[in-house]
Amino acid sequence: MLFKQQPLLRQKLFVLGSLAIGSLLYLVARVGSLDRLQPLCPIDGRFGPRSQDEIPLRALQFKRGLLHEFRKGNATKEQIRLHNLVQQLPKAIIIGVRKGGTRALLEMLNLHPAVVKASQEIHFFDNDENYAKGIEWYRKKMPFSYPHQITIEKSPAYFITEEVPERIYKMNSSIKLLIIVREPTTRAISDYTQVLEGKERKNKTYYKFEKLAIDPNTCEVNTKYKAVRTSIYTKHLERWLKYFPIEQFHIVDGDRLITEPLPELQLVEKFLNLPPRISQYNLYFNATRGFYCLRFNIVFNKCLAGSKGRIHPEVDTSVITKLRKFFHPFNQKFYQITGRTFNWP
Ligand code: A3P
Repeated sequence: MLFKQQPLLRQKLFVLGSLAIGSLLYLVARVGSLDRLQPLCPIDGRFGPRSQDEIPLRALQFKRGLLHEFRKGNATKEQIRLHNLVQQLPKAIIIGVRKGGTRALLEMLNLHPAVVKASQEIHFFDNDENYAKGIEWYRKKMPFSYPHQITIEKSPAYFITEEVPERIYKMNSSIKLLIIVREPTTRAISDYTQVLEGKERKNKTYYKFEKLAIDPNTCEVNTKYKAVRTSIYTKHLERWLKYFPIEQFHIVDGDRLITEPLPELQLVEKFLNLPPRISQYNLYFNATRGFYCLRFNIVFNKCLAGSKGRIHPEVDTSVITKLRKFFHPFNQKFYQITGRTFNWP
């Protein structure tokens, strides 16, 4: 019986073996072509001449391996010289708005082979002590990059801090400025939620959002409450416009970046004069997180930390209505100035 079945068994083993070898060969081929999965990046002449094939590969290898090593401070001076690496001042800054999705925007832009992010918020322009350390201190805080790449940093406090526009102007009057906004009431609640979580972590009690957002004496919106003030986007933007023309700003729709990130990122690529290199491949929806996550290649992907995408507390609907009514005229002005209209209530 066993003897009779042997050819059949051998045939089955042969098919299974071929399948296994086939899969293995496929995997090897995919891993070998990782760099090709991320499209090549012939960046326009602005960032200096180079060979079209060479740069993207180097940029990607750099992002996956070397950059990490350099961040850990393991790079020798020789390695840095050999790779022709530099620490460059940012060519673009995400200046705000806090809780608008600034981290998601920075991380997603970092998918682009020509972009290198400053991982930490540097708080150079909004912090007097840091600012007094001078521009070289700021530059040294920047990550290593190839000369053709652009460095981007984000510090959302810049948007609302009075001294910042003039300070940035003094560094680079033609810098590109990114502002990511969300529906103002949702942003204010998100802001409150972050502070609330901080208090809870320290076992402290905190006021309810309603108590902070509404002045108990007048029953009107409390404009002294920082989370409310930050959401009056037009007031802050007007201060920036004393230094920079509107063309130097790009407004990102933070609500759309959550639900449909790619078109928002493509608009930013355009604004930064970068060739379109971020694709749907780089972004995948993670149902457990409830957000889009990032895919650099088949090996490396990541979602944002759990502190992004918190569950907001329930807020009294009459307070929400009051806030939306309050923000309405400021929003209209914001649409008018920026030329970008949102469907905010
Ligand atoms: P919530 O925590 O209120 O949901 P910031 O980085 O400026 O602090 O913004 C945080 C917000 O980014 C989060 O606010 C979240 O909604 C939003 N966000 C946008 N895209 C995201 C993503 N892919 N993953 C996680 N959070 C994202």
